[in-house]
Amino acid sequence: MTTDAVEAIRRKLILALDFPYVQEAIGMIHKVRPEVMHYKVGLELWSSTGGDLFHYFNEEELDFFVDLKLHDIPNTVAQAVKKIMAHKPSLMTIHAMGGMDMMRAAADAKNGHEHAAHSKVVAVTVLTHHHDSDLPKLGMSGSAADQVKRLANLAQESGLDGVVCSAQEAATLRAQCGDDFTLVCPGIRPAGSQAHDQARIMTPKAAIAAGADYLVVGRPIRQAEDPQAVAKALLKEMAE
Ligand code: C5P
Repeated sequence: MTTDAVEAIRRKLILALDFPYVQEAIGMIHKVRPEVMHYKVGLELWSSTGGDLFHYFNEEELDFFVDLKLHDIPNTVAQAVKKIMAHKPSLMTIHAMGGMDMMRAAADAKNGHEHAAHSKVVAVTVLTHHHDSDLPKLGMSGSAADQVKRLANLAQESGLDGVVCSAQEAATLRAQCGDDFTLVCPGIRPAGSQAHDQARIMTPKAAIAAGADYLVVGRPIRQAEDPQAVAKALLKEMAE
């Protein structure tokens, strides 16, 4: 495999930095770098540190994904998207259940920003911890896959760059939404590893084969005795 191909695969693996403090997050980055070059800041780290790490990522030339799943009225989401865009993240999330006006406002805020070419705004569809049986209680009919398809259509019509879905839905969405629509897939578990609270899971190899653009992996790497070895094995499997 060429160096460029290895680098391309490497940028597809995103490590979820679900830590309470910046120092722990940076400690993990030191353990897994240079295997992992793309990181995700989610609600836990954001709640304690806000954007403290964003300058670090830019200085170190690491890609970073701001996963705050914004879900509010269109104006509020658009203003938040503009603030986050200023830091040049690779990806950021809003929630598709905010509806088309909200998704359009987010897409416009991103597309009108000077860093538009650098970042993608993607919509969370159905969280990967949900089973089909959870949806009727939330007032949704049909399966998780049906709901993901419906929300992905709305996200695409609203002008967003892609969606977050489970890898189990990736092949259908790839066929439905085309090659340019970005599919970000959490709920990735190497064969035989623990699912934790995730429900709609898939192995790294199967997720890439299904058409996922990015794989988000947290606990299987973070909680490993040797996180770098696990990341290396995941990348090898993704390259197959
Ligand atoms: O530890 P684990 O691999 O389950 O981590 C998955 C990460 O992806 C977590 O940070 C979680 O917040 C995020 N995520 C998810 N499902 C979504 C969207 C984001 O698990 N639909």
